[in-house]
Amino acid sequence: MITLTINGKEHQFNDDGDMPLLWALRDILKYAGTKYGCGKGLCGACTVHVDGQPVRSCVMPVSAVANQKITTIEGLSELGDHPVQQAWQDLNVPQCGYCQSGQIMSAVALLDREPNPNDKDIELAMSGNICRCGTYQRIKEAIHLAADLATEVKGR
Ligand code: FES
Ligand code: FES
Repeated sequence: MITLTINGKEHQFNDDGDMPLLWALRDILKYAGTKYGCGKGLCGACTVHVDGQPVRSCVMPVSAVANQKITTIEGLSELGDHPVQQAWQDLNVPQCGYCQSGQIMSAVALLDREPNPNDKDIELAMSGNICRCGTYQRIKEAIHLAADLATEVKGR
């Protein structure tokens, strides 16, 4: 039996411990906001946080994340108004949208460790997240905006 703590809620997991976390999230526990892209750790569509660090859930066995804090896109905020989500809406970042929950999770992790990133920080942190629609410029602008929004929220 493996205990998975997802978005603050504990789930007892009885299936194969080698199962990739992404399979457990989407197919078993129904957290469908995290997407399947390449299944090989190459595209970033499946990015979630494990103890605050961005990880590729498609190549992470559930046994490796037992008793750690897993956060998916559904767990960022109750109302979908995390500063990064707000910035994404304000700048209409998504095109088809498929890659975007992974993009947002990588952006949140970046801002958690570097609240005021420059363009280079952003390019480096986001380089593993592929967008077939090419929304990279808007993603960069939205991360700068999210940094500003987060500072405003703190300053209130
Ligand atoms: S689906 Fe996990 S990195 Fe592409
Ligand atoms: S918005 Fe379509 S793949 Fe990124």
